[in-house]
Amino acid sequence: MKNLEEWVRYMKTCKIKGFGYAKAKRLVKNEELQQVVDTNDEWIKQRTGIHQRYISEDENTSDLGAKAAIDALNKSNIKKEEVDFIIVATFTPDQMTPSTACLIQEKLGLNGQQVMAFDVNAACSGFLYALQVAHSMLACDQAKCALVIGAEVISKQLNWQDRSTCIIFGDGAGAVVLKQEETTNRMLHYACSKGDIDGVIHSDAPLPRTCFTAQSLQPSYIHMDGSKTFRFAIWAMHSAIQAVLEKANVSMDDIDYIVPHQANARIIQSVCRMYEMKEDKVYMNIAQYGNTSAASVPIALAEMWEQGILKEGQNIILAGFGAGFTWASAYIEL
Ligand code: COA
Repeated sequence: MKNLEEWVRYMKTCKIKGFGYAKAKRLVKNEELQQVVDTNDEWIKQRTGIHQRYISEDENTSDLGAKAAIDALNKSNIKKEEVDFIIVATFTPDQMTPSTACLIQEKLGLNGQQVMAFDVNAACSGFLYALQVAHSMLACDQAKCALVIGAEVISKQLNWQDRSTCIIFGDGAGAVVLKQEETTNRMLHYACSKGDIDGVIHSDAPLPRTCFTAQSLQPSYIHMDGSKTFRFAIWAMHSAIQAVLEKANVSMDDIDYIVPHQANARIIQSVCRMYEMKEDKVYMNIAQYGNTSAASVPIALAEMWEQGILKEGQNIILAGFGAGFTWASAYIEL
């Protein structure tokens, strides 16, 4: 029987080596939405902090995910042939099967080599769930180099007549390259879910059909109870951040940046107030993108890296929540 120390020696460490992102092509400002649904620019800005979002016209989730993955690989100087694991967080896959991860594998030209590829669905917490799974795979040496992607084309599930949902969401993708590397830098995770029997946020899959009966399928749209979600979100973000602070045995003073899921500027501001935290320690790009669900945290990371805000040696916390309800966080020493 091996002792714990021996087992720990088998565990591999890893680092994030590159960040990438992709925007959908079509920019839709609040003013344009006023033409489509009963809303106005002032209400959207005041109640959500959103000024615009990118909406896909002909790109699907795997297209945006592949673009973000290529961007992350280019910025990491890692050859795509080194990738042996692709995990995609999405609740808006191109199709029921194959997974978006398999489609991205093909779009990257990696279908001829040994890669494990699959999707996870934890709604807006999805990227944090995927990062934790990828880290575990690398730690136990099942893979050496992972593409962790959050990609969404939420617009295909929006009812453009429902002003309580369609104004919030946007399309996009973000990705990181995670590679085994000897390091003392830590990466710690927290994730939780709660079966949501009230369906506070939900989008239905097609119903089971009786054989041979011709039924027309109703389109499925996202439904959301905004104020219930809002109250839950503040509690969940705070609780997830607290969980990784305790795991890492650090205080908020040790943290350089919080990168939260971008769902509503008021949710992020409320969490800042709970920690008496300066807002400049918290990255916000919701004004430009809206809520891109599983893509929001990796898009924010990639933008921060591109702008030189993130640097090696910093300690950051990622935090998010979503339908399920799910909530999750990560503490990362870059
Ligand atoms: N434009 C104009 N008016 C709108 C509107 C819109 N897009 N949406 C709602 N309203 C109106 C409502 O009809 C209501 O009018 P009334 O007072 O005359 O009845 C009023 O604005 C307030 O509505 P309410 O739903 O209470 O607003 P809110 O302040 O809770 O904001 C959300 C709504 C959706 C922006 C907010 O609840 C939210 O962001 N929730 C969290 C959502 C979230 O995080 N989702 C993603 C999960 S990952």
